[in-house]
Amino acid sequence: MNNFSRFGFILATVGSAVGLGNIWKFPYITGEYGGGAFVLVYILTILLIGFSLLVAEMFLGYLGKSDAVTTFEQIGIKNSKPSLKYAGFMIFNGIIIMTFYSVVIGWILFYIYHSLNSGLPHSVSVAENNFNNLIGNKIWIQIGFHTLATLIILHFVNGGIKQGIEKLNNTLMPLLFLILTGLLIYSFSFNSFSQAFTFLFEPHWEKLNSEAFIRAVGHSFFTLSLGMGTILTYSASVPKDINITKSALLVMFFDTLIALIAGLIIFTLLFQFGEEPSKGPGLVFISMPVIFYHLGTTGIIFSTLFLFSLAMAGLTSAVSLVEPAVLYLINRFNFTRFKATIFMGFLYWFVGIFAILSYSKDFGKMFSFFGKPLFDILEVTTDSILLPLSGIIIAIVVAFLVSKNELEKVQAELGIFYKIWLFSVKIIVPIAILFLMLNVLGVIKL
Ligand code: PHE
Repeated sequence: MNNFSRFGFILATVGSAVGLGNIWKFPYITGEYGGGAFVLVYILTILLIGFSLLVAEMFLGYLGKSDAVTTFEQIGIKNSKPSLKYAGFMIFNGIIIMTFYSVVIGWILFYIYHSLNSGLPHSVSVAENNFNNLIGNKIWIQIGFHTLATLIILHFVNGGIKQGIEKLNNTLMPLLFLILTGLLIYSFSFNSFSQAFTFLFEPHWEKLNSEAFIRAVGHSFFTLSLGMGTILTYSASVPKDINITKSALLVMFFDTLIALIAGLIIFTLLFQFGEEPSKGPGLVFISMPVIFYHLGTTGIIFSTLFLFSLAMAGLTSAVSLVEPAVLYLINRFNFTRFKATIFMGFLYWFVGIFAILSYSKDFGKMFSFFGKPLFDILEVTTDSILLPLSGIIIAIVVAFLVSKNELEKVQAELGIFYKIWLFSVKIIVPIAILFLMLNVLGVIKL
């Protein structure tokens, strides 16, 4: 069969988990919520909520050995709830995410090209102008790079689990790790390294509020690729003797480690050049290029490596976002892999164009709804509503609909921790997510 090897599975799942979320998003939310205290809450959430759900979703994949819709359908039939199959439609969350994820990967590719060609900006205002000009005016360039990103992604999805996805991850993930370690070692040479270290690891309790907690929960889903059938789909192709909980621990460990390394690198550079830690999403595209400029020639190398690592992290996540829906078309509609890949790829690519237009000066209004650009709507809806919703479903299905016999594997692996895990999946995870969603929807304000 076309299964992952054990190592390949772990690497591909780490590849899925480590994405733009780790290198781009984690540092800026950490900055916003004051550093160390947020990191602590984040680690606690990952351990308590993220890990439980990661094991649950991996287990569902292992159990079902099929696409998400079929897996949920089978559990539904056993429990006389045939409509449970619709839960499997969470695979489309990945396609919705891809509409903007691919655009961002396109920006990164453009930045690699641009910084090699025209150099780096010498001040924040120039950098700001560059970025605003890209998203506000350069529609064709963005579409071009969004298309390039799409072609690369589809090429590997079309290769299938073994020849495409496993190969891509086997090459890119070690390389990513190597580059980030190199950049980390380079950051040691700056005086500001210790400041960055303190910022990340010294808790400032006064800055910690319930909003930080909500952000931490939301981010733990996104960063572990939970709630869109990605983990479920990858886990459907694992070797039989896989240890689910060990794999989940490794994935969680590497995901967190890479986020922290990225944070250390970024904050060291920010502090070295007197920039504020809470720079928002523009961090990577505005502050970092200016910092790299100040480093002279090393800066160009540094910048290229940094952008490459971002692109690699993004690509390995992107294939994992597309694969679940592709497998569904293959299994349920008898599509060939090629046809399924093109179909899903075209779908997100096409909507992605409107996401691009929604940020443009000329067409922005046309593609904004409720005063928000389509790009942001796609991001917020998935991040804050669809992923948590799917998370609850996964938790409930595993906790209440899967039989005790079937759970034996997890029980054997977890030993004395099994009861804690079950409690977490049954009670803690659903309550935490419910809280998160009500808060996002504005029903409660913490
Ligand atoms: N985990 C990825 C990140 O942190 C994003 C992602 C979400 C990838 C869901 C796959 C599935 O960027």
